[in-house]
Amino acid sequence: MHTIPLQQTAKTVSNTSKPVTDIIEFYNEATTDYQFWSKSYNMHFGFFKWFTTNPFKRDTMLNEMNRQVLKRVGLLKERGLLADLGCGVGGTMRYALTNNKKLTSIGITLSKFQMEQGNRFLKHLNGVILCENYDHTSLANSSCDGAIAMESFCHGGHHRNSFAEAYRILKPCGRLVIGDAFLKTTPEALCPGGKYFYKNLCTHWNLSRLGSIAEVTEELKKVGFSKVKVEHISFNVAPSVLHVPFAIFGFALKNLFNKESLKKESLHNLKGSFYALLCGLQLKSFGYYLITCIK
Ligand SMILES: C[S@@+](CC[C@H](N)C(=O)[O-])C[C@H]1O[C@@H](n2cnc3c(N)ncnc32)[C@H](O)[C@@H]1O
Repeated sequence: MHTIPLQQTAKTVSNTSKPVTDIIEFYNEATTDYQFWSKSYNMHFGFFKWFTTNPFKRDTMLNEMNRQVLKRVGLLKERGLLADLGCGVGGTMRYALTNNKKLTSIGITLSKFQMEQGNRFLKHLNGVILCENYDHTSLANSSCDGAIAMESFCHGGHHRNSFAEAYRILKPCGRLVIGDAFLKTTPEALCPGGKYFYKNLCTHWNLSRLGSIAEVTEELKKVGFSKVKVEHISFNVAPSVLHVPFAIFGFALKNLFNKESLKKESLHNLKGSFYALLCGLQLKSFGYYLITCIK
């Protein structure tokens, strides 16, 4: 195993600021629930690919999403340093590091719980998770070969500051890949049902908002990224989204069986998942995309 200069690349761990306390609280409390969604703690939706993934086996699709993202960032087999901005407990990092021994990875999360748990899981791998804000990390300028943000930039509302920070830490020619749900329109233009689902999705999953795909593409270019490639993958993601009602039902049943009361954050998570499904069905207004761009 390589001895990696991770601590050299990252300066001291910064403190998180007040407006993000709800996100921190949410992930400190609800992270363990995700074990029910994915044994390897993949906290994202999956990518269904004919003859490669089994639509009935969620984890095959969740891991295929990891593979698709790593392929686009160009670090599936190559040597380099990967930043995972909003890494959860490092599900994608572990997939990346297990499959590519030449890779080093630094994950960023707001949640101390995720950092501690994730670093335990990463013990024998070439990666570390820091408890920082992805809008202003301690990573050095031009230090990373690639950066990914899987269903994480939505918490900050797909804000330009997050893109600018990714741009800062990337080496020239380094790639950023964002995998997330976006609006195809403006929030004002949503139908009443769409507005209701969207509002509840944001409330229960602690999302500032979802960026509109056109606006996000422009913002990435303004920040300096080139070759912004936008891929609409809602139909690849749909089979894993359809697992949501079964996962919710199974999770609720497990709690009932164990006579455990549901934590506020767990309930929010379940409701958020339900509204994600309802938003996902509004194909005209919402879409799941992979965005790849180059510094
Ligand atoms: C839905 S989870 C996705 C985790 C991971 N990317 C995955 O796919 O398994 C969202 C993650 O974004 C992180 N996050 C949200 N806002 C953040 C911020 N401002 N700075 C750092 N991490 C943030 C949360 O702590 C959480 O780990």
